[in-house]
Amino acid sequence: MTGNPKEKMWSIEGFRIPYPKYSVIWFGPFLPVTNTYHPEPVKAILATSEPKEDYIFDMLRPWLGDGLLLSTGKKWARNRRLLTPGFHFDVLKPYAKIFQGSANDLVSKWRKLCKNGKPVSREMFTDISLLTLDGLLKCIFSVESNCQEEKHPYIRSVVELTQLTMERIRFLPHHIDLIYHLSYNGYKWRRATRRVHSYTKSVIQKRKDALKDPQNGRDKNKKYIDFLDILLSAKDEDGSGLTDQEIQDEVDTFMFEGHDTTASGVSWFLYAMAIKPKLQAKCRREIDGYFQLKGNDQLEWDDLNNLPSLTMCIKESLRINPPVPVITRRITQDISFPDDTVIPAGAFAVILIEAIHKNPLVWKDADLFDPERFASENLKNIPPYSYIPFSAGPRNCIGQHFALNEMKITCATLVYNFEFSYNPAVSIEIEESLIRRTKNGIHLFITPRDSHAIARQ
Ligand code: HEM
Repeated sequence: MTGNPKEKMWSIEGFRIPYPKYSVIWFGPFLPVTNTYHPEPVKAILATSEPKEDYIFDMLRPWLGDGLLLSTGKKWARNRRLLTPGFHFDVLKPYAKIFQGSANDLVSKWRKLCKNGKPVSREMFTDISLLTLDGLLKCIFSVESNCQEEKHPYIRSVVELTQLTMERIRFLPHHIDLIYHLSYNGYKWRRATRRVHSYTKSVIQKRKDALKDPQNGRDKNKKYIDFLDILLSAKDEDGSGLTDQEIQDEVDTFMFEGHDTTASGVSWFLYAMAIKPKLQAKCRREIDGYFQLKGNDQLEWDDLNNLPSLTMCIKESLRINPPVPVITRRITQDISFPDDTVIPAGAFAVILIEAIHKNPLVWKDADLFDPERFASENLKNIPPYSYIPFSAGPRNCIGQHFALNEMKITCATLVYNFEFSYNPAVSIEIEESLIRRTKNGIHLFITPRDSHAIARQ
């Protein structure tokens, strides 16, 4: 079933957009697959808290358990309510210093690699994933891992599990549990899962012991509340909290959802800067000017609204290369539209975030990187549900402010300290995956800016 663009105008909150609303593809008699890229059905589907399609997510369940990403129904609703305070601005504000610290560590690492100020080519995902994992470890557990410089066993296992998941998704025979678990990758998966779980269990236990003995157990210099504090103190109206297993599932979920997504966002932003040198120079001028006014080059929470060009480039990069390009829902009740069309119960809805972001009837020159779309005077031209890098509705990304602020601090710090240019020796080929990545990574030349020249400006 497909709308005819010539005959029909679908309207969404005052915007009239001629476009097929969705197409239902029938796989045999039982399984309609609904491909959705028009804002109106996207709104209708995302307004519900319908469960996600389990096929791929079931592969993640032994690692992530029943955390927010994978849980459904009452359990999801309760835990989402209990965890939401953990993403309140008052909790997130002090994390700006943590993000800045992790970004500074990457600057030192890269400066050491660029001997005598010479450019070197680096693969972005690898270095930036370690940076985001470093930040998460501090924000979740208050653990200083130094993982950008030294291998940390927990981080190694998280990275291994992420890679094994992507490999499993790409290799169809491994979709069958029995075959996978008899394979060498299946063995490595079980080993890494055991290591990750035993680490999280031990940190949770240590923190619980410390809470019993606040005089001796707590780090008195700690200036922020970490996620573990929030998870351990979260209570229902009847006073019941989260079990150890639930805390472990949520922690593992944040580590998975929070590192690769943000790393993808930062890496694609740097790629955009590398292929758009004028925009890169514009962002750098803005950052240099702001640091000069501020009197130092360290960003805090309150600075983050003062970098409009950088913010617009980040938003445009998230439009062109959304870190989560597709999400899915299992429709459990018919969804009807005023024109009598219906998405039937049982449908597997595929919400194509990338196609929504490039819908040519919403976005003019949709493939063009144009940050001005997000200038404050142009925001009114973007129809609701046409830009959803963090999804929308009740099951949207709980970590979006965390992620955006980490992105702003990391991107600003890196663009301030280095110039980026594209390394044509390694081509960019998109890889079909849960997270927007490329087959061979993103290789960019990084050239350190002369710190004396920066100071003189
Ligand atoms: C640029 C970075 C990020 C992007 C683009 C992103 C995007 C998304 C999207 C599209 C979803 C919806 C998934 C679905 O419906 O299947 C989601 C869910 C989620 N995200 Fe993020 N995310 C990012 C960073 C983070 C961070 C940093 C955290 C945690 C610290 C996080 C935690 C979660 C969780 C727990 C969910 C599940 C929410 C629920 O179902 O209630 N994300 N994210």
